[in-house]
Order: sequence, then structure tokens, then C-alpha cells
Amino acid sequence: MKRVRTAVLISGRGSNMKALLDAAKDPAYPAEIVLVVANVPGAGGLDIARAAGIDTATIDHRGKGGREAFERELHARLLEAGTELVCLAGFMRLLTPFFVDAWAGKMLNIHPSLLPAFPGLDTHQRALDAGVKFGGCTVHFVTSEMDVGPIVAQAAVPILPGDDAPTLAARVLIAEHKLYPAALAAVASGKAPQPGAGALPTVYNPPL
Ligand code: GRF
Repeated sequence: MKRVRTAVLISGRGSNMKALLDAAKDPAYPAEIVLVVANVPGAGGLDIARAAGIDTATIDHRGKGGREAFERELHARLLEAGTELVCLAGFMRLLTPFFVDAWAGKMLNIHPSLLPAFPGLDTHQRALDAGVKFGGCTVHFVTSEMDVGPIVAQAAVPILPGDDAPTLAARVLIAEHKLYPAALAAVASGKAPQPGAGALPTVYNPPL
């Protein structure tokens, strides 16, 4: 079986990246993680990736002379690794149309809310303030508008009395670690509909 060569982009602790690495240890998993790139020197996830024997790179976005210069270097590094799919996993950097277009239909992100509700930052507190009864997470294809691209998979968790942003974030994170590997598997094996296949965003609900 040919496995899809996948790179993971991180900025921080990398717990979703670790969930993807763990899933991809199984030779039957349809994606292999060939590279982890951080835009923040010393990002915690880099140590986890190195310990797992994965190639890593740090491309500091600062001092590069603008977003696109940073992205051109990142793009070149991804191509050098033979990357076919990109997974953003806590990658805290807005991407320009240059990079988004280059990876259109081949780049996934995970966001810790049930999109289209609560895109952007501070999502858990905004969900609590709105009084919604379910939170969750979404894996979607990346488009140039943040947290808006076609939805691949979602998982819902209850919001419980007494929750605050950290307790809700912790419950959602457990679901993220199941959802992202399932969603990547669906995309890598061609079981998730491709963006643009229909007028409405497509939804794939893997069993959790
Ligand atoms: C996750 O909640 C993810 O959904 C969001 O940023 C957080 C990253 O956490 N985009 P980690 O680095 O994967 O632990």
C-alpha cells in the first residue's frame, strides 16, 4: 500500500501532532508522517517528533522579510520532503493566498469548536458565554479565510455545569486526538469527499 506522505506544521506543544504520529505508527494507516515543521524555535512538539524518529525543521517566521518569504521557504522544505498532504496542528500563523493556493485541497486544519460556530481565538470562552450545550472540534480543508474551509469531520462533546474554558478545552482536546487521525485517514484513503465536490460543505463523521 502506498501511504500518503504527510507533513505536520506546529507552533507549540504538539499534542495533536503526537496523535497523528501515533496513528501513523501502524503500517496499515494510509498516511505516513515524513516531516514536522515548527515556525517557533523550541516548540515542545519538536522534541516529541524527534524522539519518534521523525525528521523535523524549524523555520522561524521572524526576520524573513514578510509572510510570503517565510512561506516560500516552508513550501520548498515541504516539497523537498516529497510532501503530498499538510496537516496544521496548532499552527498559529495566518497563511497567505500563495501558500493556501499551492496546497489547495491538500491541507487540513483542526479547530477546537463546532465550526462554523466560534472560529478564531478564545473559542472555548466564547462558547461558554453563548450558553451552547455542546462544544467540539472540526477538521477542515484550509482556504484563505480562517477556519472556514470545507468540513471533513466533526466530534461533539457536552458542555457541563461548572465548566470553565480550561475544563472545556481539556474535554475537547481528548476528542481532537481521536478525530484528527480519523479525518486524516479518511482524506488519505480517498474516503472523504474532496472540496468543491458539491455546493455544500461535505461532512464525514468517523466512529469515535
Ligand atoms: C488545539 O486545540 C487545536 O485544535 C488548536 O490549537 C490547539 C493545539 O494544541 N488549533 P496542540 O499543540 O496540538 O497540543
